[in-house]
Amino acid sequence: MSKKSSHTRDLFVSKFGVIAAAAGSAVGLGNIWKFPYITGIYGGGAFLFVYLGFIVLIGLPVMLSEFAIGRRSRSNAFGAFKKLAPGSSWKYVGMLGVAAAFMILAFYGVVAGWSIDYIVKALSNSFASKTPGELESLFINFTELPLIPVLYQLFFMVLTMAIVIVGVKDGIEKYAKFLMPLLVVIIIVLGIRAITLNGASEGLKFLFYPDFSKLTAEGVLSALGHAFFSLSLGMGTLITYGSYINDKNNLSKTAVQVTLADTVIAILAGIAIFPAVFAFGIEPGKGPGLVFITLPNVFQQMPGGYFFSILFFLLLTVAALTSSISILEVVVAYFKEELKIKRKTATIISTVLISIVGVFCSLSMGILGDYKLFDLNFFDLLDWISANMLLPLGGLFISLFVGWYLGKDLVQNELSKGSLVIKSLLNVFIFLVRFIAPAAIAIVFLNGIGLLRFG
Ligand code: PHE
Repeated sequence: MSKKSSHTRDLFVSKFGVIAAAAGSAVGLGNIWKFPYITGIYGGGAFLFVYLGFIVLIGLPVMLSEFAIGRRSRSNAFGAFKKLAPGSSWKYVGMLGVAAAFMILAFYGVVAGWSIDYIVKALSNSFASKTPGELESLFINFTELPLIPVLYQLFFMVLTMAIVIVGVKDGIEKYAKFLMPLLVVIIIVLGIRAITLNGASEGLKFLFYPDFSKLTAEGVLSALGHAFFSLSLGMGTLITYGSYINDKNNLSKTAVQVTLADTVIAILAGIAIFPAVFAFGIEPGKGPGLVFITLPNVFQQMPGGYFFSILFFLLLTVAALTSSISILEVVVAYFKEELKIKRKTATIISTVLISIVGVFCSLSMGILGDYKLFDLNFFDLLDWISANMLLPLGGLFISLFVGWYLGKDLVQNELSKGSLVIKSLLNVFIFLVRFIAPAAIAIVFLNGIGLLRFG
């Protein structure tokens, strides 16, 4: 690592604080936009149940693994494997992560762009006195446009790039620390409004009552993929962040806190959305527009809805930013250290390349919508490949690496820095990363893509 890069990165985390940085990465569009919409598609409660199971049995151990790999190696995702397993092929796991980061940021920027547009719509009071049907057309007509969504997407990418280039200056840390709790408060207020609507109880039932007959192999794979996506796992983001965590930090505690925060926020978003979905007669399996169509209906039904709507989309955009910088960082660190280019150049090049791919994602919502592969448009295809294939595969290799390659002694040594390791918990952890996580990921993956059939 060059002097400059270590300086930039150290600054980044010292400003955020470990938990704020990792939670900032984890909490984003995944919780508020993606979680509700895929829960809607895959049938509600049973999907949530499986998702929570994956979070605990696979997500948490993989997060701890990434932190441990990062802190032990003190390098970026690719370099970490090179350093800990010199001369081996493990470094390609880091490469897989770079590819995943590239794809994720391409469509992530599009959705963040929608969020920016919705700030503008909220400001000009565009949701007022519209029916659920009109709010749906508002969303669809907007996302199908060839130009405006692209401009907002590029604007968001420039913001992301600017932050990654300058490192995290005074602002972001200070703001993120009170803006994220504020976002939680707003989601809770929205949730209270949503569950007091007429007909809301159907929505709560949909979200929490597990009807396993609705669960498909693809739904199970999506639950796994989303556990990785939402926790920012499987592509080295938290290896990179782990490399800045000092030796006094209790990694296990940090992993539990980040996982808990991420999961609670997703469930709160579900509580704000599904009761309203049912109260307004919206179709829960509507897809990527679900949040953008449902919440404007809720804003209309609450005192101060005008201000809440502005604040909500503003905070959603900030939440997206604290995630997008962590995604871009994976690509930049790789470009910089492997191709030996300066941080600034690396950031600009990767942002431009990702944005170009992102433009096609945006256009696939409209004029390029007919170009499909496996019945998915380009946007959905990148989402599917990254979340449901690359992240689980990355997680599989990361858990194998920690469980079998690094081994128990080294892991114990790393985890006992900054905390007393409880022997039985360590054994549980090792058992999970050696056997349970890899086996579960392999089975769910093969079953989900149809190579293996259960039931
Ligand atoms: N976890 C982020 C979210 O939920 C997205 C993300 C995925 C960030 C992968 C980093 C790595 O919005």
